[in-house]
Amino acid sequence: MTEHAHHHEQSNSEPAHSRHLHSEHGRAGDAHAGHSHDPGHSHATDAELAQMLDLDALILGSYLADATAWAAELAVHEPETILDIGSGSGVGSLALARRFPAAHVTALDMSAQMLATTLESAAGSGLDGRIAGLQVNLNEEWPASATADLMWASSSLHELADPERTMAEMFANLNPGGLLIVIEMDGLPSFLPDRLQEGSAVGAGLESRLHASLASNGWNQYPEWTAGLERAGFAVERRHFPTRGSATPELAARYGRAFLGRIAPTLAGAVSPSDLASLELLLGNGPESLERRGDLVVRGHRTAWAASKP
Ligand SMILES: C[S@@+](CC[C@H](N)C(=O)[O-])C[C@H]1O[C@@H](n2cnc3c(N)ncnc32)[C@H](O)[C@@H]1O
Repeated sequence: MTEHAHHHEQSNSEPAHSRHLHSEHGRAGDAHAGHSHDPGHSHATDAELAQMLDLDALILGSYLADATAWAAELAVHEPETILDIGSGSGVGSLALARRFPAAHVTALDMSAQMLATTLESAAGSGLDGRIAGLQVNLNEEWPASATADLMWASSSLHELADPERTMAEMFANLNPGGLLIVIEMDGLPSFLPDRLQEGSAVGAGLESRLHASLASNGWNQYPEWTAGLERAGFAVERRHFPTRGSATPELAARYGRAFLGRIAPTLAGAVSPSDLASLELLLGNGPESLERRGDLVVRGHRTAWAASKP
């Protein structure tokens, strides 16, 4: 759900070669606390992004059970090896390990901190030993060890510099009869109700204007992946997973603050002063603040592509 890959290419923290990290070893080394590999958003650390991804899964995560069930339906045989590509905080890795209890899951990410978070979550969920981390920057090279029966790329394919090349690499490194699940958010998550309360100082239509501005900077932008996946050799099906998420007002406010707090520094000068003032009200601590307004509704639908290798 973050912006397009071109912002990631200035990263200087990524490994020249891949490194295996194992949950038995606890926190993975080489974590750059406070570092962002996202120079366009230096306020957002990987730790903050990981927290936001965990909140997203907590609130909007019904797609995880739905899409892993779809993968189980389509898999030619029970997967033994699973690769979660751009695994982030590991919500997909954990869901996959639960859905496929006989499989070993490798979480692949260029961020050591994300992998450390994943391995901590795995240990906290009794899944350690079932999930390993692989630190690699896919913009550089596909790691030779990364073959699998099932691959999963959620909100990550659009972040890569050359998704067409990566789709071809996925095809080449899937075992025969293997399956790739690609997932994207249909749009950025939104929090305000369609109709704001009478007299609200927050401008109507605020979020769609913020999202339009972010989209013009590449946030969450991706092509309809079907044609690209077919060019790579896959047979493709697509499914929409509407959100069945629900959240307490407290959780909704936490996710709202994480997301809007992450985008706010990027919007100065990009949206109108009145929209910036509205954003400030939401992120402030007055009656219109996320915590006190009491009318938040979290939305964030997903689309998934199931790509089969004959
Ligand atoms: C928006 S997060 C999605 C995380 C997770 N799949 C989810 O759905 O919650 C994208 C992840 O892809 C990783 N990523 C982006 N570009 C990458 C690259 N070139 N190589 C490896 N990982 C990358 C980022 O570090 C980040 O953790």
